[in-house]
Amino acid sequence: MKFFIDTANLAEIQEAYDLGVLDGVTTNPSLMAKEGITGDDNVRAHYKAICDIVDDKVSAEVISTDFEGMIREGESLAAIDDKIVVKIPMIKDGIKAIKYFSQKGIRTNCTLVFSAGQAILAAKAGATYLSPFIGRLDDISFDGLELIQQIVHIYNVYGFETEVLAASVRHTMHLIKCAEIGADVVTCPLNVITGLLKHPLTDSGLEKFLADHAKASGK
Ligand code: E4P
Repeated sequence: MKFFIDTANLAEIQEAYDLGVLDGVTTNPSLMAKEGITGDDNVRAHYKAICDIVDDKVSAEVISTDFEGMIREGESLAAIDDKIVVKIPMIKDGIKAIKYFSQKGIRTNCTLVFSAGQAILAAKAGATYLSPFIGRLDDISFDGLELIQQIVHIYNVYGFETEVLAASVRHTMHLIKCAEIGADVVTCPLNVITGLLKHPLTDSGLEKFLADHAKASGK
């Protein structure tokens, strides 16, 4: 299972990378805006800075919603660095753009996916990654994890190569359940990755080990 971090914050990306378990980064226009990154040159420089931290797979989302615009923007984003994956929304022109990029050997991440039907379309178009949004489905009382399970099953049945990238992951149980189900990738905030470290028995066990060691050493 691959871990991507879902942020445009350089310090958080560096911290996750330094932990040694990071496989990639996903961003979206809201995450870029949260960091105050606006204007074409600043956006490009920021993506380059992210690429300079991580080894590969940096999703950069297009803003255009028409085919020509997505192609123009996607090609320009892909030219920033070989690590860029062009993130395209699940809309009609987006599917056409994914097909275009897959034929050109440019990797894509199909975003804003909320149904199995959308997942089938994106896989047939040749998306490299598919991003179903678990948390946003849970927010409206649909089971996000059930959707991941359904898509993983369908992709296995047909041997689709598109990787299931569970997105909108809000907590550690989302991540662990995605691992059980067989999602290829999860993307989540830094606190979800570091949250995996935590167990009270680890903390109390370590405290006791150190105390016993100190007592035995006469400290
Ligand atoms: C995925 O690529 C999106 O950036 C992200 O996971 C959305 O998460 P949110 O629903 O917490 O905004």
